[in-house]
Amino acid sequence: MAQNWTPGSWRQKPIQQVPEYPDAAALAATEATLATYPPLVFAGEARRLKKQLANVAEGNAFLLQGGDCAESFLEHGADNIRDFFRAFLQMAVVLTYGAQLPVVKVGRIAGQFAKPRSSNVEVQDGVTLPSYRGDIINGIEFNEASRIPNPERQLDAYRQSAATLNLLRAFAMGGYANLENVHQWMLGFIKDSPQADRYRKLADRISETMDFMKAIGISAENNPSLRETDFFTSHEALLLGYEEALTRVDSTSGDWYATSGHMIWIGDRTRQLDHAHVEYFRGIKNPIGLKCGPSLTPDNLIELIDALNPANEAGRLTLICRFGHDKVADSLPKLIRAVEKEGRKVVWSCDPMHGNTITLNHYKTRPFERILSEVESFFQIHRAEGTHPGGIHIEMTGKDVTECTGGARAVTADSLSDRYHTHCDPRLNADQALELAFLLSERMKSGRDEKRLAIATA
Ligand code: TRP
Ligand code: MN
Repeated sequence: MAQNWTPGSWRQKPIQQVPEYPDAAALAATEATLATYPPLVFAGEARRLKKQLANVAEGNAFLLQGGDCAESFLEHGADNIRDFFRAFLQMAVVLTYGAQLPVVKVGRIAGQFAKPRSSNVEVQDGVTLPSYRGDIINGIEFNEASRIPNPERQLDAYRQSAATLNLLRAFAMGGYANLENVHQWMLGFIKDSPQADRYRKLADRISETMDFMKAIGISAENNPSLRETDFFTSHEALLLGYEEALTRVDSTSGDWYATSGHMIWIGDRTRQLDHAHVEYFRGIKNPIGLKCGPSLTPDNLIELIDALNPANEAGRLTLICRFGHDKVADSLPKLIRAVEKEGRKVVWSCDPMHGNTITLNHYKTRPFERILSEVESFFQIHRAEGTHPGGIHIEMTGKDVTECTGGARAVTADSLSDRYHTHCDPRLNADQALELAFLLSERMKSGRDEKRLAIATA
């Protein structure tokens, strides 16, 4: 176990982004209650994900991580979860086919509630109130009662996470994710979706292959890997009191695990080496993520890796890079070189969302072409450095929202107001998410062909 570490040792450290709960006793009582609740995930599952991520670190798989910027209590419902999962499966199928590599599937879901904010307060028409920090902390409505942090919300978030996870497990293991349904996942397409045609062609090829395999005796009935998929959950572990209450010793290994989700990550705003979040994360055994923004220096990064993955275990640490389309070429190569020079095993993942946020017509938005451009640069840089572009981390929904501009069905600045529903940052809609998956799949295919050519001509 990490030295001098306990699930609560983060409390001795400086901390950023903490809500001010007016009633400390009520908060402590809620945390004590949560500590009696069952874990949401099992340590064995987290280890299984770590193994799959080790495979990514070694260049033999690809990580797909995505979901809402912030989950909300209001939008919790079976349809939303199903629509998200369906869009996610479509992406996964497209990527698996293109990369011809296993795709590790991790949702930003069933726990993604707490949000870091750039300001502690929000001002509207001369009224100043605490900022909204996510449904697990306070309400989004702009009035005093709703903006006061309320510990009861942690119990609601726990229950919502449990219900969401339950449905996702049912979908993943109970038949919905069966590859024989690859055509049925098209039900979600809106008429005239430009991706529908492309997707149908791919689904036809998969069905044909499945029919062939069935003829030779391999079917979904006798082969679980055709009808089931491993789907994991993740979130930013920002609210450490909640995380501590769900930190448990795994009885099979004696190790500490965060049981609020399979994988958790540290945000770009809370990754100070000697602060609370790094302290908490160093002691748990889950696979973890670290958000890397433009202010992270190569030396910083190596120090953080020393603290978070001292044993250099593959699959333990995913570096989620979020530089911005105009900064990635400057920021990423030096981090890659430092990591390579020190021989550290990491998963390199690209978050093309958070560095590309702008304001248009008073809406926070993200131009789709900048998102694609950052992804393209990420791939090119890894190719040039000889490293594996291991994954992608996106904010997306299965719905037809208008939050990011662009894409084949061109959301314009003026149409942002049509269906702008996010509780926090703008998400890719189902169409844009699939368009991105097709682009990625083409990049990975050409990477594969290059590698084969290199081997053939060596
Ligand atoms: N079990 C394999 C996998 O998860 C194949 C598979 C089954 C699959 N259902 C899927 C792949 C849905 C993508 C999407 O990769
Ligand atoms: Mn976000």
